[in-house]
Amino acid sequence: MLAGNWKMHTTSAEATTLIEGIATAARAAKDREVVVGPPFTLLETAKRAIGDAPISLAAQHLHWEPKGAFTGEVSGEMLRDIGCSHVIIGHSERRQFFGETDATVSQRIGAALRVGLHAIVCVGESLEQRENNQTLAVIDTQIRGGLHGLDAAAFASLTVAYEPVWAIGTGKVATTEQAEDVHAAIRKQLGTLVGGDVAETVRILYGGSVKPDNVDALMAQPNIDGALVGGASLDPKAFSRIIEFSN
Ligand code: 13P
Repeated sequence: MLAGNWKMHTTSAEATTLIEGIATAARAAKDREVVVGPPFTLLETAKRAIGDAPISLAAQHLHWEPKGAFTGEVSGEMLRDIGCSHVIIGHSERRQFFGETDATVSQRIGAALRVGLHAIVCVGESLEQRENNQTLAVIDTQIRGGLHGLDAAAFASLTVAYEPVWAIGTGKVATTEQAEDVHAAIRKQLGTLVGGDVAETVRILYGGSVKPDNVDALMAQPNIDGALVGGASLDPKAFSRIIEFSN
């Protein structure tokens, strides 16, 4: 899975140009799933621009209630209604700036799965946590806190994205070894939650300064099954090259 998280970027004209610019690469990408995640306001525009191209539409966030007095929030039902098939949950920017916790991540995953949205669940450590050798403990807490209680069927509708916070938007990509080590640990943790067979089938994406010049090496790692891309997903040429990674 190659997923673009557009964050709080793009106008409607830019969104259309961007999708038109990656459609050729997406059509040629037979063995990979391409996903774009525009802001809420552009989901409908993006859906129209996608047309019949094999590009899945993701929202960047959802509320866990189906409807109600929750000013400013958007529900899973609303996302399905507008044509989303995927939703990003628990991005580190939500955790850092908007009070997202493992408990609310868990609620959002439940809500997404109830309406048939595929959840892309983000985990990752801060620089301080990495320097204090807490990376695996932090990831373990996030995985267990967010994914506890889910059965094998739920894991079929779920992708994990490992995004070390210190590598997001900084140009500092984790080394392939650093990324692979954490991905392997995540797969092991998933195995303890749901069994090794199911854990083998869950895709684990890497995110954090993925670019055309580092995607091939990352994707060559055995436990890296895709990428969640921020900055480079806003450039159609760069994201096309990422979609076309070779390993
Ligand atoms: P960058 O690719 O800009 O580092 O962002 C990564 C990210 O946060 C994707 O969700």
